[in-house]
Amino acid sequence: MALLDGKTALVTGAAVGLGNAFARALANERASVVVCDVRPDVAQLVAELQAGGTKVVGFEADVSVPADVRRVVDGALSAFGRIDVLVNNAGTWLASAPTDPFDKSLNDFEKGFGTNLKGVFMFGRAVIPQMIRQGGGDIVNIVTDHIHTCGAPVVLSHDDAPGCPWAGQPPRPTGGGVAMDVYDASKWGINGFTIAWAKALREHHVRVNALCMGATDSHMLRSFHQFNPPAEQVAMWMKPTDTARLLVDLLREGPDGRSGENIGLAMGHPVVLPPRQPEPQFASAH
Ligand SMILES: NC(=O)c1ccc[n+]([C@@H]2O[C@H](COP(=O)([O-])OP(=O)(O)OC[C@H]3O[C@@H](n4cnc5c(N)ncnc54)[C@H](O)[C@@H]3O)[C@@H](O)[C@H]2O)c1
Repeated sequence: MALLDGKTALVTGAAVGLGNAFARALANERASVVVCDVRPDVAQLVAELQAGGTKVVGFEADVSVPADVRRVVDGALSAFGRIDVLVNNAGTWLASAPTDPFDKSLNDFEKGFGTNLKGVFMFGRAVIPQMIRQGGGDIVNIVTDHIHTCGAPVVLSHDDAPGCPWAGQPPRPTGGGVAMDVYDASKWGINGFTIAWAKALREHHVRVNALCMGATDSHMLRSFHQFNPPAEQVAMWMKPTDTARLLVDLLREGPDGRSGENIGLAMGHPVVLPPRQPEPQFASAH
């Protein structure tokens, strides 16, 4: 029996990139699949999965719009009656800096936080009650960039992976660059949800983890390089299919598996689950 036989997985932002690979990998494990994206060509993925025998529904939807979130979650439940896996993948990158004009900055904030943080928040709020009713589930949030941007990741040492471009180097400074403050802050915010949800939902057997992505070959990363990335960089990037394999490995841990971890995936390192960490975040709060 495949891992997700009889289960339903919902992936946001699945038209291209990582979300597309996640949806295919979950379908491969025989999940019924729900996908959504602002891009109408998410329909192409739906058609392909259907042709391969997957039960699938797709929605053109914007994760930053409350009515769209409800429509996707209600549509998933009316199609399949349950949601076992939620992959909060939809994300947007935009150039923003502290020196930007005020009005541009407000627009960037609404867009960046709307998709990257409010979208995660709303899908969580819409799906969690259903997971609790079902007796459990898995939420996987996608955050960003190597190990230092991410707040409290499961740390990978640069030095234990000879292929890592940063082996032997001092840690990179926090943050992705001078023109990424909105993107980085919105992704940092997700760490708060991951940890707080993991803690609150442990007793309901809902696991919540984050994949803290380093550079991965996708539409987003290629657009960052004006669709003409240097070949030597592309050769180093992780592949969405590798990340999707790791997502399946994470789900394979089952209800007693890790929760509340921010799992670092960095190019130059093998794309494998690092050892499970102790769970200090479950100590009682004051
Ligand atoms: N590729 C990388 O190197 C990298 C690194 C770190 C983190 N990430 C994160 O991984 C996730 C996937 O990124 P990717 O590289 O595959 O990007 P991508 O741009 O290739 O794909 C993102 C998908 O999300 C969709 N999307 C964007 N805004 C949306 C919205 N408001 N509502 C619904 N769908 C929306 C896009 O249309 C697209 O299909 C993102 O959260 C991104 O921040 C990627």
